[in-house]
Amino acid sequence: MEYPAYALGHSDRELERLSAQERLIGPVTRQFFREAGIGPGMRVLDVGSGAGDVAFLAADLVGETGEVIGTDTAAAAVGAATKRAEAKGLPNVSFREGNPAEMAFDRPFDAVVGRYVLVFQADMAAMVHQLAQQLRPGGAMVFHEPDLTSVRSRPPAPTYDCCCQWIAKTFRLVGTEADMTHRLHQAFVGAGLPAPSMRMHTFIGGGAECMDWLQAIADMAASLVPTMERLGVVTAAEIEIATLAERMRREVNSIGGVIIGRSEIGAWAHI
Ligand SMILES: C[S@@+](CC[C@H](N)C(=O)[O-])C[C@H]1O[C@@H](n2cnc3c(N)ncnc32)[C@H](O)[C@@H]1O
Repeated sequence: MEYPAYALGHSDRELERLSAQERLIGPVTRQFFREAGIGPGMRVLDVGSGAGDVAFLAADLVGETGEVIGTDTAAAAVGAATKRAEAKGLPNVSFREGNPAEMAFDRPFDAVVGRYVLVFQADMAAMVHQLAQQLRPGGAMVFHEPDLTSVRSRPPAPTYDCCCQWIAKTFRLVGTEADMTHRLHQAFVGAGLPAPSMRMHTFIGGGAECMDWLQAIADMAASLVPTMERLGVVTAAEIEIATLAERMRREVNSIGGVIIGRSEIGAWAHI
């Protein structure tokens, strides 16, 4: 299977960013998973587990009688997630290195889940089709993916808008098209699955409400700086990463603005 470049990398900083981001988007993922029917006793496969947060969330839903296996192609991510599972004392959560679409498991799963991972695949339908082979009949395929096309500010906050445009451009240049609303639907249908149930959640707010979100955007930009520079999107001097979050906060506050974040798209179907 062909993979586009993975622009975010797996530095300690990026793995910490994923965990920090969990506080903002974890409740949305939990809602999607609950609606998709993830519950006690299930055996769940997490695709692209990163620092492990989605696997830990799934573990909370399946409880002690369930099991979660997280997978990631990056050894650094698997190592970090494994350490966190040990520290949390979760014997029913484990992590394996590799692409689960191409891995063998001893038993089928009740659910395959993933967050922010299909978007990075060159052929999403092929990936979903292969992952469906890991499910028992009636099992659930559940993904939470981003759509960057909703991002904007009112009235315009130029620093926020500019930062979001740099992020979107960088993803586009490495082949990651983050307009997942329609593409996610197509991935399910193209894989031979039923048209998925879909939900959308979009962050919107101003003042104190949006401070954490602005920090999350600045943190993502920080992880992308090396790729942004390499691709000529923006220089480190222009992005001024050390002060970016604070400058975005001051700007939004000074205009009494409201920012609208990326959309969180949930999609699920039973095979
Ligand atoms: C943006 S991170 C998301 C991590 C986690 N799901 C979360 O939401 O916190 C995407 C992760 O998927 C992994 N990944 C990308 N393609 C993969 C594949 N085909 N199989 C397994 N892991 C993959 C990357 O290495 C990266 O760690």
